[in-house]
Amino acid sequence: MDKTIFKASAQWDKDISVEAFVVFVIEDQAEIEKQTTFLAETDKESVLKSIKADGFKGKKNSIFVHALSQSESARKLIFVGLGEKVKLTDEVLRFAAAQATKTAQSSNIVSLALLATEYLPKRKKVGDSIPDVVEGVLLSQYKFKKYKSPDPDEKKVIAEVVLIHKDKKALQAVKKSIEKGEQYAYGAMLARDLVNEPGDEVTPTVLKEKAEEIAKASPLITCKVLDKTELKKKGFGSILAVARGSEQPPYLVHLTYKPRQATKKKVFLIGKGITFDSGGISLKPSDGMETMKMDMAGAATVLGVFSQIAQSLPRVEVHGLVATCENLPSGTAIKPGDVVTAFNKKTIEVLNTDAEGRMVLADALSYAETFKPDSIVDLATLTGACIVALGNDVAAILGTDQQLIKSVEKASQDAGERMWQLPLEEEYAEAMKSDIADVKNISTPGTGAGTITGALFLKNFVQETPWAHLDIAGPAWSSKEKGYISKGGTGFGVRTLLRFLQDV
Ligand code: BES
Ligand code: ZN
Ligand code: ZN
Repeated sequence: MDKTIFKASAQWDKDISVEAFVVFVIEDQAEIEKQTTFLAETDKESVLKSIKADGFKGKKNSIFVHALSQSESARKLIFVGLGEKVKLTDEVLRFAAAQATKTAQSSNIVSLALLATEYLPKRKKVGDSIPDVVEGVLLSQYKFKKYKSPDPDEKKVIAEVVLIHKDKKALQAVKKSIEKGEQYAYGAMLARDLVNEPGDEVTPTVLKEKAEEIAKASPLITCKVLDKTELKKKGFGSILAVARGSEQPPYLVHLTYKPRQATKKKVFLIGKGITFDSGGISLKPSDGMETMKMDMAGAATVLGVFSQIAQSLPRVEVHGLVATCENLPSGTAIKPGDVVTAFNKKTIEVLNTDAEGRMVLADALSYAETFKPDSIVDLATLTGACIVALGNDVAAILGTDQQLIKSVEKASQDAGERMWQLPLEEEYAEAMKSDIADVKNISTPGTGAGTITGALFLKNFVQETPWAHLDIAGPAWSSKEKGYISKGGTGFGVRTLLRFLQDV
């Protein structure tokens, strides 16, 4: 994709030559009028007149477009409504930026000057809204086009966006904030690409190679790959069991980011990387099975984060584990009733081969524990039950440490990636006990609470380390386009985790 270049400037300037001015306005008549003061006198009059005629009030998601005649430096004015000032959030700004972008694109406009909004969500300081705007502009233009023939009517990429920030002294901060927004957006876009690729294309080997490529690009990142031989030697019986039905070899990929300044603090991010989940011998119904190419979204999120980590430069050591294989039925596949031994020596009775995500995570979590990290966050498209409970927009968060959960939640609010905590209800752990092994991989029928029992299974492979589990089965994939969220892979989690790592 051609890239959108962002620039920062301290004023609406005659020298800024763009095709359109974009102004964000809150729902307040006086404010709207104030925002026209930069226009040439005759333009200002006609703008105010047609705003009135149009009934534009600055309501959330509303748009007002006006052709300018006097201003030499732009031919169009786009007002985007933000709604009430008291209800302004980062997410409102992201949607507004996405709307401005789409409006411009539909008029074939490729350069914009955007009043880097003076309206800030509560508790924010100058420049804090810039990453939101950059995310909105970039992510709303994302399209997965690899397998499409070229389209002559295709909308042009916005080539240039000048962010105007009135405070001259803040320009440096604005530039930094632009970079932040770019990191969040490009990280999410890599995750989207990986999720959108067919299972045949993004195999476990391809995920492994992507990790190696990311490590190669920065001296701060290293990549260690545990291949099938290594996994066998070290006793990763649970990943190997899931992988057994497939011709594709499994991997446990271990990325490490070390900050330039030494630190003792270590965070592990773990992603479920099932590049296709057919269910295995407990085969899924064929309707909708094609979407199970997205069952590596957790892994894609970890790779998305690592693709930007050498730019975002968190102060802590960050480890990324990608546990990847395919889940297919065959003559060699694992069967319901089989018992396997995980890396921490716990035995698992496999009663349903479709509950495979928790099995690959079991090995990854217990491997992470051997490094004695300060915290572990895992992401997985783990349970259909999570979509029943929270729908397609909201992830579930569960875990053993309320402080860790709170800080992930805080980052997710800033990122506009919604999550809701479910209780790690100990009472239900009983339902995961097996008659013949330490645990079974599905709960006793009738237990319900599938997302919680899935997480309780995982808890067997975590020790004292503060741990948070994100079930992203719903929001990792979108069946429709919504503002800056594209259809298909969403890159959910990348923008939250990059923000989370900044604050730990
Ligand atoms: N990958 C699926 C979960 C899933 C379903 C993700 C729908 C995204 C959308 C997972 O491996 C799975 O099949 N889980 C089973 C667990 C059950 C057998 C206990 C499920 O949810 O049905
Ligand atoms: Zn499954
Ligand atoms: Zn799965």
